[in-house]
Amino acid sequence: MKKIGVLTSGGDAPGMNAAVRAVVRSAIYRGVEVYGVYHGYKGLITGNIKKLEVSDVGDIVQRGGTILYTARCEEFKTEEGRAIAIEQLKKFGIEGLVVIGGDGSFMGGVKLTQLGFPTIGIPGTIDNDIPETDFTLGFDTALNTIIDAIDKIRDTATSHERRFIIEVMGRGCGDLAMWAGLADGAESILIPETKEDLDTIVERLNRGIERGKKHNIIIVAEGVGSADEVAKAIKAKANMDTRVTVLGHVQRGGAPTAFDRVLAARMGNKAVELLLEGEKGKMIAIQNNKIVAHDILDLLTKKHEFNKNLYQLAKELSI
Ligand code: F6P
Repeated sequence: MKKIGVLTSGGDAPGMNAAVRAVVRSAIYRGVEVYGVYHGYKGLITGNIKKLEVSDVGDIVQRGGTILYTARCEEFKTEEGRAIAIEQLKKFGIEGLVVIGGDGSFMGGVKLTQLGFPTIGIPGTIDNDIPETDFTLGFDTALNTIIDAIDKIRDTATSHERRFIIEVMGRGCGDLAMWAGLADGAESILIPETKEDLDTIVERLNRGIERGKKHNIIIVAEGVGSADEVAKAIKAKANMDTRVTVLGHVQRGGAPTAFDRVLAARMGNKAVELLLEGEKGKMIAIQNNKIVAHDILDLLTKKHEFNKNLYQLAKELSI
Protein backbone atom coordinates (compact mmCIF):
# COMPACT_ATOMS: atom_id res chain seq x y z
CA MET A 1 0.00 0.00 0.00
CA LYS A 2 1.54 3.27 -1.14
CA LYS A 3 -1.30 5.77 -0.68
CA ILE A 4 -3.88 5.97 2.08
CA GLY A 5 -6.68 8.41 2.91
CA VAL A 6 -7.99 9.78 6.19
CA LEU A 7 -11.33 11.40 7.01
CA THR A 8 -13.26 12.56 10.06
CA SER A 9 -16.99 11.97 10.26
CA GLY A 10 -19.93 12.42 12.66
CA GLY A 11 -19.82 14.90 15.56
CA ASP A 12 -16.36 16.40 15.95
CA ALA A 13 -14.38 15.50 19.06
CA PRO A 14 -11.23 16.99 20.63
CA GLY A 15 -8.32 14.78 19.68
CA MET A 16 -9.47 14.22 16.09
CA ASN A 17 -6.77 16.59 14.82
CA ALA A 18 -4.14 14.83 16.90
CA ALA A 19 -5.30 11.54 15.35
CA VAL A 20 -5.12 12.97 11.81
CA ARG A 21 -1.59 14.15 12.57
CA ALA A 22 -0.64 10.70 13.87
CA VAL A 23 -2.06 8.97 10.79
CA VAL A 24 -0.30 11.35 8.39
CA ARG A 25 3.07 11.24 10.09
CA SER A 26 3.04 7.50 10.84
CA ALA A 27 2.31 6.83 7.18
CA ILE A 28 4.91 9.25 5.81
CA TYR A 29 7.45 7.78 8.26
CA ARG A 30 6.80 4.42 6.54
CA GLY A 31 7.12 5.87 3.03
CA VAL A 32 3.37 6.02 2.38
CA GLU A 33 1.52 9.05 0.96
CA VAL A 34 -1.54 10.36 2.77
CA TYR A 35 -4.60 12.11 1.36
CA GLY A 36 -6.98 14.10 3.52
CA VAL A 37 -10.65 13.69 2.59
CA TYR A 38 -12.55 16.87 3.49
CA HIS A 39 -16.11 16.99 4.93
CA GLY A 40 -16.30 13.29 5.77
CA TYR A 41 -17.93 10.89 3.32
CA LYS A 42 -19.29 13.85 1.36
CA GLY A 43 -15.72 14.69 0.35
CA LEU A 44 -15.26 11.14 -0.93
CA ILE A 45 -18.17 11.64 -3.30
CA THR A 46 -17.29 15.15 -4.42
CA GLY A 47 -13.58 14.35 -4.64
CA ASN A 48 -12.61 16.96 -2.07
CA ILE A 49 -9.33 15.18 -1.45
CA LYS A 50 -5.86 16.67 -1.00
CA LYS A 51 -2.43 15.26 -0.39
CA LEU A 52 -1.18 16.00 3.13
CA GLU A 53 2.49 16.61 3.85
CA VAL A 54 4.23 16.52 7.21
CA SER A 55 3.86 20.28 7.63
CA ASP A 56 0.12 20.25 6.79
CA VAL A 57 -0.53 18.62 10.14
CA GLY A 58 1.84 20.87 12.09
CA ASP A 59 0.38 23.02 14.87
CA ILE A 60 -2.85 21.01 15.11
CA VAL A 61 -2.08 18.52 17.88
CA GLN A 62 -3.44 20.99 20.44
CA ARG A 63 -6.49 22.14 18.48
CA GLY A 64 -10.07 20.98 19.03
CA GLY A 65 -12.45 20.34 16.15
CA THR A 66 -11.18 18.81 12.93
CA ILE A 67 -9.12 20.46 10.20
CA LEU A 68 -10.68 17.98 7.75
CA TYR A 69 -14.19 19.17 8.68
CA THR A 70 -17.07 16.78 9.13
CA ALA A 71 -20.51 16.42 7.58
CA ARG A 72 -23.50 14.15 7.36
CA CYS A 73 -23.90 12.59 3.93
CA GLU A 74 -27.15 10.95 2.84
CA GLU A 75 -25.76 10.16 -0.62
CA PHE A 76 -23.05 7.91 0.80
CA LYS A 77 -25.81 5.74 2.31
CA THR A 78 -26.88 4.77 -1.21
CA GLU A 79 -25.17 2.17 -3.40
CA GLU A 80 -24.69 4.75 -6.16
CA GLY A 81 -23.05 7.17 -3.71
CA ARG A 82 -20.63 4.53 -2.49
CA ALA A 83 -19.76 3.52 -6.05
CA ILE A 84 -18.83 7.14 -6.82
CA ALA A 85 -16.74 7.24 -3.62
CA ILE A 86 -14.78 4.15 -4.69
CA GLU A 87 -14.21 5.69 -8.12
CA GLN A 88 -12.84 8.85 -6.51
CA LEU A 89 -10.52 6.84 -4.28
CA LYS A 90 -9.25 4.95 -7.32
CA LYS A 91 -8.76 8.19 -9.23
CA PHE A 92 -6.39 9.39 -6.51
CA GLY A 93 -4.72 5.97 -6.30
CA ILE A 94 -5.77 5.62 -2.65
CA GLU A 95 -5.68 2.01 -1.47
CA GLY A 96 -6.83 2.20 2.15
CA LEU A 97 -8.77 4.58 4.38
CA VAL A 98 -8.74 5.58 8.06
CA VAL A 99 -12.12 6.78 9.31
CA ILE A 100 -12.17 8.75 12.57
CA GLY A 101 -15.67 9.00 14.02
CA GLY A 102 -18.47 7.22 15.86
CA ASP A 103 -20.48 4.08 15.14
CA GLY A 104 -22.45 5.69 12.29
CA SER A 105 -19.17 6.55 10.61
CA PHE A 106 -17.93 2.98 11.01
CA MET A 107 -21.01 1.68 9.20
CA GLY A 108 -19.80 3.64 6.17
CA GLY A 109 -16.33 2.13 6.58
CA VAL A 110 -17.76 -1.38 6.74
CA LYS A 111 -19.66 -0.79 3.51
CA LEU A 112 -16.44 0.28 1.78
CA THR A 113 -14.62 -2.76 3.16
CA GLN A 114 -17.42 -5.00 1.85
CA LEU A 115 -16.89 -3.43 -1.56
CA GLY A 116 -13.26 -4.53 -1.34
CA PHE A 117 -11.82 -1.23 -0.11
CA PRO A 118 -9.81 -1.66 3.15
CA THR A 119 -10.93 0.65 5.94
CA ILE A 120 -9.84 1.00 9.57
CA GLY A 121 -11.84 2.99 12.17
CA ILE A 122 -10.67 5.12 15.07
CA PRO A 123 -13.35 5.83 17.70
CA GLY A 124 -13.70 9.61 17.91
CA THR A 125 -16.70 10.90 19.82
CA ILE A 126 -17.19 12.66 23.13
CA ASP A 127 -20.00 10.22 23.99
CA ASN A 128 -17.84 7.19 24.90
CA ASP A 129 -20.64 5.04 23.51
CA ILE A 130 -18.59 2.59 21.42
CA PRO A 131 -18.37 -1.03 22.59
CA GLU A 132 -15.09 -2.82 23.36
CA THR A 133 -13.04 0.29 23.96
CA ASP A 134 -12.51 1.76 27.41
CA PHE A 135 -12.38 5.27 25.96
CA THR A 136 -13.19 7.10 22.77
CA LEU A 137 -11.19 10.10 21.57
CA GLY A 138 -12.61 13.32 22.98
CA PHE A 139 -14.37 11.82 25.98
CA ASP A 140 -11.70 12.84 28.47
CA THR A 141 -11.57 16.41 27.13
CA ALA A 142 -15.37 16.79 27.18
CA LEU A 143 -15.42 15.39 30.69
CA ASN A 144 -12.86 17.94 31.85
CA THR A 145 -14.86 20.73 30.18
CA ILE A 146 -17.95 19.58 32.05
CA ILE A 147 -16.11 19.42 35.35
CA ASP A 148 -14.68 22.87 34.84
CA ALA A 149 -18.19 24.22 34.17
CA ILE A 150 -19.67 22.46 37.19
CA ASP A 151 -16.91 23.78 39.46
CA LYS A 152 -17.86 27.28 38.35
CA ILE A 153 -21.55 26.61 38.85
CA ARG A 154 -20.78 25.35 42.35
CA ASP A 155 -19.30 28.73 43.29
CA THR A 156 -22.51 30.53 42.52
CA ALA A 157 -24.67 27.65 43.79
CA THR A 158 -22.96 27.84 47.18
CA SER A 159 -23.18 31.63 47.37
CA HIS A 160 -26.92 31.55 46.78
CA GLU A 161 -27.50 28.17 48.47
CA ARG A 162 -29.12 26.89 45.31
CA ARG A 163 -29.82 23.56 43.68
CA PHE A 164 -28.63 23.18 40.08
CA ILE A 165 -29.68 20.72 37.43
CA ILE A 166 -27.05 20.37 34.73
CA GLU A 167 -27.72 18.66 31.42
CA VAL A 168 -24.80 17.06 29.60
CA MET A 169 -24.44 15.42 26.17
CA GLY A 170 -23.84 11.76 25.39
CA ARG A 171 -26.72 10.72 23.12
CA GLY A 172 -28.02 7.41 24.54
CA CYS A 173 -24.93 6.90 26.72
CA GLY A 174 -24.64 8.10 30.32
CA ASP A 175 -20.84 8.00 30.61
CA LEU A 176 -20.25 11.76 30.45
CA ALA A 177 -22.88 12.30 33.14
CA MET A 178 -21.70 9.43 35.30
CA TRP A 179 -17.99 10.27 35.22
CA ALA A 180 -18.72 13.97 35.74
CA GLY A 181 -21.04 13.15 38.63
CA LEU A 182 -18.41 11.01 40.27
CA ALA A 183 -15.66 13.56 39.67
CA ASP A 184 -17.77 16.41 40.96
CA GLY A 185 -19.67 14.80 43.82
CA ALA A 186 -23.15 15.31 42.37
CA GLU A 187 -26.13 14.47 44.59
CA SER A 188 -27.83 12.52 41.83
CA ILE A 189 -26.78 11.33 38.39
CA LEU A 190 -29.56 10.59 35.94
CA ILE A 191 -28.47 8.34 33.12
CA PRO A 192 -30.35 6.25 30.56
CA GLU A 193 -28.72 2.98 31.64
CA THR A 194 -30.42 2.91 35.04
CA LYS A 195 -33.50 4.41 36.61
CA GLU A 196 -33.49 6.87 39.50
CA ASP A 197 -36.99 7.69 40.78
CA LEU A 198 -38.10 11.16 41.70
CA ASP A 199 -38.65 10.26 45.38
CA THR A 200 -35.01 9.22 45.72
CA ILE A 201 -33.79 12.39 44.00
CA VAL A 202 -35.84 14.60 46.34
CA GLU A 203 -34.84 12.53 49.37
CA ARG A 204 -31.14 13.01 48.57
CA LEU A 205 -31.66 16.75 48.09
CA ASN A 206 -33.43 17.00 51.44
CA ARG A 207 -30.74 14.97 53.17
CA GLY A 208 -28.14 17.42 51.89
CA ILE A 209 -30.13 20.44 53.00
CA GLU A 210 -30.65 18.92 56.48
CA ARG A 211 -26.94 18.46 57.03
CA GLY A 212 -26.30 22.05 55.99
CA LYS A 213 -25.11 21.60 52.40
CA LYS A 214 -24.92 24.93 50.66
CA HIS A 215 -25.30 23.66 47.13
CA ASN A 216 -26.74 20.69 45.34
CA ILE A 217 -25.87 19.42 41.90
CA ILE A 218 -27.92 16.99 39.85
CA ILE A 219 -26.47 15.86 36.52
CA VAL A 220 -28.82 14.75 33.78
CA ALA A 221 -27.61 12.87 30.71
CA GLU A 222 -29.46 14.10 27.63
CA GLY A 223 -30.45 10.49 26.91
CA VAL A 224 -32.76 10.61 29.95
CA GLY A 225 -34.64 13.72 28.90
CA SER A 226 -34.17 17.42 29.49
CA ALA A 227 -32.94 19.09 32.66
CA ASP A 228 -35.99 21.37 32.39
CA GLU A 229 -38.30 18.39 32.73
CA VAL A 230 -36.41 17.25 35.82
CA ALA A 231 -36.61 20.76 37.30
CA LYS A 232 -40.36 20.86 36.70
CA ALA A 233 -40.84 17.42 38.26
CA ILE A 234 -38.86 18.44 41.37
CA LYS A 235 -40.89 21.64 41.65
CA ALA A 236 -44.16 19.71 41.34
CA LYS A 237 -43.10 17.02 43.81
CA ALA A 238 -41.34 19.01 46.52
CA ASN A 239 -41.98 22.66 45.67
CA MET A 240 -38.24 23.19 45.41
CA ASP A 241 -36.78 25.85 43.15
CA THR A 242 -33.82 24.90 41.01
CA ARG A 243 -31.67 26.47 38.31
CA VAL A 244 -31.05 24.69 35.04
CA THR A 245 -27.88 24.78 32.93
CA VAL A 246 -27.67 23.00 29.60
CA LEU A 247 -23.97 22.79 28.75
CA GLY A 248 -24.56 22.09 25.04
CA HIS A 249 -21.89 22.26 22.36
CA VAL A 250 -19.28 23.87 24.58
CA GLN A 251 -18.63 20.23 25.57
CA ARG A 252 -17.44 19.42 22.05
CA GLY A 253 -14.82 22.13 21.69
CA GLY A 254 -11.49 23.06 23.21
CA ALA A 255 -7.94 21.83 23.27
CA PRO A 256 -7.68 18.07 23.81
CA THR A 257 -6.34 16.91 27.14
CA ALA A 258 -2.96 15.18 27.34
CA PHE A 259 -4.83 11.88 27.65
CA ASP A 260 -6.74 12.44 24.40
CA ARG A 261 -3.62 13.61 22.55
CA VAL A 262 -1.65 10.54 23.58
CA LEU A 263 -4.58 8.25 22.82
CA ALA A 264 -4.90 9.88 19.38
CA ALA A 265 -1.20 9.34 18.71
CA ARG A 266 -1.40 5.67 19.70
CA MET A 267 -4.61 4.96 17.80
CA GLY A 268 -3.57 6.83 14.66
CA ASN A 269 -0.26 4.98 14.58
CA LYS A 270 -1.93 1.60 15.06
CA ALA A 271 -4.47 2.31 12.31
CA VAL A 272 -1.68 2.91 9.81
CA GLU A 273 0.21 -0.18 10.95
CA LEU A 274 -2.88 -2.35 10.48
CA LEU A 275 -3.68 -0.98 7.03
CA LEU A 276 -0.12 -1.63 5.92
CA GLU A 277 -0.32 -5.16 7.31
CA GLY A 278 -3.34 -5.75 5.07
CA GLU A 279 -6.00 -5.58 7.80
CA LYS A 280 -9.44 -4.18 7.05
CA GLY A 281 -12.86 -3.69 8.67
CA LYS A 282 -11.27 -3.20 12.10
CA MET A 283 -11.67 -0.53 14.78
CA ILE A 284 -8.80 0.49 17.01
CA ALA A 285 -9.61 0.36 20.72
CA ILE A 286 -7.94 0.87 24.07
CA GLN A 287 -8.49 -1.83 26.65
CA ASN A 288 -6.61 -1.96 29.94
CA ASN A 289 -4.23 0.63 28.48
CA LYS A 290 -3.36 -1.60 25.53
CA ILE A 291 -4.08 -0.57 21.95
CA VAL A 292 -5.98 -3.39 20.27
CA ALA A 293 -8.26 -3.88 17.26
CA HIS A 294 -11.74 -5.38 16.90
CA ASP A 295 -13.83 -6.43 13.96
CA ILE A 296 -16.25 -3.56 13.26
CA LEU A 297 -19.08 -5.86 12.15
CA ASP A 298 -18.88 -7.63 15.54
CA LEU A 299 -18.88 -4.31 17.38
CA LEU A 300 -21.97 -3.09 15.58
CA THR A 301 -23.94 -5.96 17.13
CA LYS A 302 -22.78 -5.03 20.66
CA LYS A 303 -23.56 -2.23 23.08
CA HIS A 304 -21.10 -0.14 25.06
CA GLU A 305 -20.97 -1.63 28.54
CA PHE A 306 -22.21 0.53 31.38
CA ASN A 307 -19.82 0.55 34.35
CA LYS A 308 -22.12 -0.36 37.24
CA ASN A 309 -19.29 -0.21 39.77
CA LEU A 310 -18.53 3.43 39.01
CA TYR A 311 -22.19 4.32 39.25
CA GLN A 312 -22.48 2.55 42.61
CA LEU A 313 -19.31 4.28 43.83
CA ALA A 314 -20.73 7.68 42.89
CA LYS A 315 -23.85 6.84 44.86
CA GLU A 316 -21.93 5.71 47.92
CA LEU A 317 -19.77 8.82 47.95
CA SER A 318 -22.70 11.20 47.67
CA ILE A 319 -24.69 9.97 50.67
O1 F6P B 1 -22.27 12.52 19.30
C1 F6P B 1 -21.77 13.71 19.80
C2 F6P B 1 -22.90 14.65 20.18
O2 F6P B 1 -22.31 15.84 20.69
C3 F6P B 1 -23.92 14.07 21.15
O3 F6P B 1 -23.45 14.09 22.48
C4 F6P B 1 -25.09 14.97 20.90
O4 F6P B 1 -26.31 14.33 21.22
C5 F6P B 1 -25.01 15.21 19.41
O5 F6P B 1 -23.66 14.97 19.04
C6 F6P B 1 -25.40 16.59 19.00
O6 F6P B 1 -25.40 16.62 17.62
P1 F6P B 1 -25.45 17.97 16.77
O7 F6P B 1 -24.13 18.64 16.90
O8 F6P B 1 -25.74 17.52 15.39
O9 F6P B 1 -26.53 18.81 17.37
